[in-house]
Amino acid sequence: MSDECKTTGFTPQQVARWPNVHKHLCGTLELPTLDSVSEEVILNIGEGIESMLKSEGPTPKQLKARAGLFRHLKRTLEHRFKNAELQQFGSSQSGLTLQAGDLDLCLQFKGDIPAKALRQVNRILKQHDMEDIVMLPRAKVPIIKFKDERTKIPVDISINNTLALHNTELLKRYSACDERIRSVILAVKHWANRRDVSDAASGTFSSYAWTLLAVQALQQTTPPVAPVLQEGQERSMVEVEGTTYDLTMREVDSITMDPKNNQSLGELFVEFIFKYAASWPFKDQVVSVRTGSPVTRKSKKWKHATPKAEKAVLMEKKTRLGQHSLPIEDPFDLKHDLSRVLRPAGALDIQEEFIRACLAMGDGGRWDAIVEAKNPERFVPVAEFDLFEDLRKKSKEEVATLLSENATAIEALDERMNALTEERKHNVRMSRALRGTIEDTTELRNELRTIVRTLRPRSKEMDKLQTTRDEINKRIGLPLYRIEELLTDVYKQLTGEIDLFQVPSLRREEDQFSWFFELQAMHAEATKAQEAHKAFIALLKEQKDAVRSLKANEKEQQKHKAELLESEPMLKDMDLNFSDAMQFDKKAHKLLKVIDQRRTELRRLRREKGRLDAWVRISSNPSRSSNRHGNKGGGKRGGGQKRTKSGSADWKPRNNGPRPEDVQQRAASGGTLSLTDLDVLLNSGGLSTVTKKQPSPKASRRQERKKKVNARNLTPHRGERSQSRKGRKD
Ligand code: CTP
Ligand code: MG
Repeated sequence: MSDECKTTGFTPQQVARWPNVHKHLCGTLELPTLDSVSEEVILNIGEGIESMLKSEGPTPKQLKARAGLFRHLKRTLEHRFKNAELQQFGSSQSGLTLQAGDLDLCLQFKGDIPAKALRQVNRILKQHDMEDIVMLPRAKVPIIKFKDERTKIPVDISINNTLALHNTELLKRYSACDERIRSVILAVKHWANRRDVSDAASGTFSSYAWTLLAVQALQQTTPPVAPVLQEGQERSMVEVEGTTYDLTMREVDSITMDPKNNQSLGELFVEFIFKYAASWPFKDQVVSVRTGSPVTRKSKKWKHATPKAEKAVLMEKKTRLGQHSLPIEDPFDLKHDLSRVLRPAGALDIQEEFIRACLAMGDGGRWDAIVEAKNPERFVPVAEFDLFEDLRKKSKEEVATLLSENATAIEALDERMNALTEERKHNVRMSRALRGTIEDTTELRNELRTIVRTLRPRSKEMDKLQTTRDEINKRIGLPLYRIEELLTDVYKQLTGEIDLFQVPSLRREEDQFSWFFELQAMHAEATKAQEAHKAFIALLKEQKDAVRSLKANEKEQQKHKAELLESEPMLKDMDLNFSDAMQFDKKAHKLLKVIDQRRTELRRLRREKGRLDAWVRISSNPSRSSNRHGNKGGGKRGGGQKRTKSGSADWKPRNNGPRPEDVQQRAASGGTLSLTDLDVLLNSGGLSTVTKKQPSPKASRRQERKKKVNARNLTPHRGERSQSRKGRKD
């Protein structure tokens, strides 16, 4: 007996994965009404969102790390592509970002995009130790995805993604219209992410699509919370990559929402869920932020192609979902439906999550339950990154050893790189020289080939003529001139006047006639032999000329080769042919790969040097070695650590009690002093120092400022100080 559902055809596993969608398809699903959601639930959801915004928003440290990563990539890529600018877009630019968001960057080329630009970016990223690099060159907009090796920040770099820069601006303006718009969008993104329905790469909506769904819902409240920013009399038509788009966008300042919507955050989020769960606009409508309300599928000619999700999941695993399944119109690229990325299971997952949240809200569910992680392992907090974690346990001497080993390794690698670079240059030079000479001598070599090609047939023809001539001569035995003399004689005899006293006998006359005819036949043959001989002589001359040209040609080629050898003596034993040049090319290419690997290694070593140097600076200045670089316990370490022989305790950041200057100042101003203060005072020169060392308020301010600057300078920076000038050039 089959386990599949008779109505839907779902397997038990599919029913377990989409229980509510399954009920809906069977016609047994009952959804609560919006009115049935209790005040308490709404309040709890509102509070949940507020606290989520605080806990899930990017921390200043994360923002700083993102900004640092962006600066690093910008400097690197703009150095490589002189006609391009790296720009930020997406949530990091629109302000609609949570900790889970990625860094969306776009390499905008002014003019032509260089061939294989994405591959070149890939190479650079590899050299900079980026992780999990995936290239999508055939995507609508070519894109490369990766993670920063150090901070693990996920990054997308697309090429000439001009429209994305505009739609980012649009979203930025929407979120500036009303604080609740930003909050609801972030709540929706958070919920979708926790419920695993926000990843275009695995067949669900992108964060961007969720943002548009949220904006549309806020445009549809009564009265609307969000305006329609793309309306207006004056249209702004802009050509982007050969297509004209309507990029009209109203200024936020020009908008007043009247009457104003006063719904709470909780209410708005609940309404968002109910709007999509209950009325499922995708049935016959297309979500359209551009117009402020869904437009009909018919007007866009976006019919839901087959198979639909519930049928496609029953087919083979790789069955594609019919186009325009849950259609969302891009605000500017009106032909672009954001549901294009959906896979059958993804579309059902989305519907399931809407229904699940809706049922939970009707059932008194709390915010935490609504956004409960579907796959908690995805949300295991990553331990805070401590750049100096391994060094904290090391003694001064150990760190010094590391530094010296690092310097030796850098020096050795530097030299190896120089040798490799020279070797590569040599190969490139040889290939170029060879190719250049080959090209210079191409005509000569073509000519030579033509001459050589005529030699053999001509020689054959000469042999033939010679054989013909010799055979005839052998057969006839008389040369042509002699035959002609005899012919004349016989002819004269036969046709001359007859001496009446010596009339030839009939027999003799017959013999003479016969001899005459024989001579005639011999003459024809001998003429042939002579013609053959003449032709032979002519060919012989041609052959001689050809050989002479050959010699001249070879001489000319030798001259070119000699010139080449003068510049490249190592080509001495080489033939001038393309396969040799290709060998050099191949070698140069292989060397380039090795050089690339070494360069990456060198960069790593230089970065390590920067890190070690920074640690030496920080740890030799204990007052500053507190928790600046992710040292979770650094600042809280006890003050009683004593210097050990190895110096390891002294090496750690410490709190050494009150500073002598502070105590002196306090004593001078008549403040109270503790026993510890007195101890510090006595150890630092006693009371006599109090009046002398009192700093003027101006000087102390200057000192403070200087300290701040120094503190800033001690921060290890990505790329800049951790790479040498030479390294930066790479
Ligand atoms: N984008 C687009 N078309 C898409 C997907 C994305 O134009 N089909 C652009 C949008 O400009 C969007 C940006 O890419 O703002 C980033 O997309 P995404 O990372 O999905 O959205 P974010 O708002 O950045 O979300 P997150 O914070 O989760 O990264
Ligand atoms: Mg993003």
